[in-house]
Amino acid sequence: MKYGLKSTVKFVVLMTTVAVISGCQTMSPTASSSTLYDMLGGNQGVTKIVQGTLDYTLSDSRIAHTFDNSNVKRVETLLIEQICDLTDGPCEYSGQTMERSHRGLNLNSMHFNALVENMQKAMRDNNVPFRTQNQLLAILAPMHDDVVGRSR
Ligand code: HEM
Repeated sequence: MKYGLKSTVKFVVLMTTVAVISGCQTMSPTASSSTLYDMLGGNQGVTKIVQGTLDYTLSDSRIAHTFDNSNVKRVETLLIEQICDLTDGPCEYSGQTMERSHRGLNLNSMHFNALVENMQKAMRDNNVPFRTQNQLLAILAPMHDDVVGRSR
């Protein structure tokens, strides 16, 4: 016999190892390296969430007026960039600090909660899982104190 039992066993062990390693390689990017940015749907997902949030906000009588003197397109672009940055996407936020950009708007917690509510609606519209929604909101929540109470 050309190939003995030992060679057959070695071959089986080798092929099993290859199968396990290649299996791990196809599994690992989704299992371990998936960022919150990916979970939100990457650039397309984050863009839709931000656009939806701003659409709801601009027709929300509680807070629409706060954007009266603002360049909404600029806010949209920078909010997409900021969320991308904060959720480990391939971006670096280039806008002003939260304290600086909300100075003079005289926002309070009601305004803040209204915006969060609109973002939740936008995420729901885009089928973002509840757990993922909460992960993004948990990142934004600590900004509350920089955003509100900035009267000048
Ligand atoms: C965690 C919550 C918030 C985040 C992450 C956020 C993020 C941002 C960003 C990235 C900008 C653009 C900064 C720049 O121009 O360089 C911005 C501007 C602005 N935000 Fe927010 N924001 C938040 C809460 C709010 C709330 C609650 C309101 C009002 C209800 C609001 C109203 C505005 C307005 C009106 C501007 C434009 C200001 C201007 O024209 O100079 N934001 N925000």
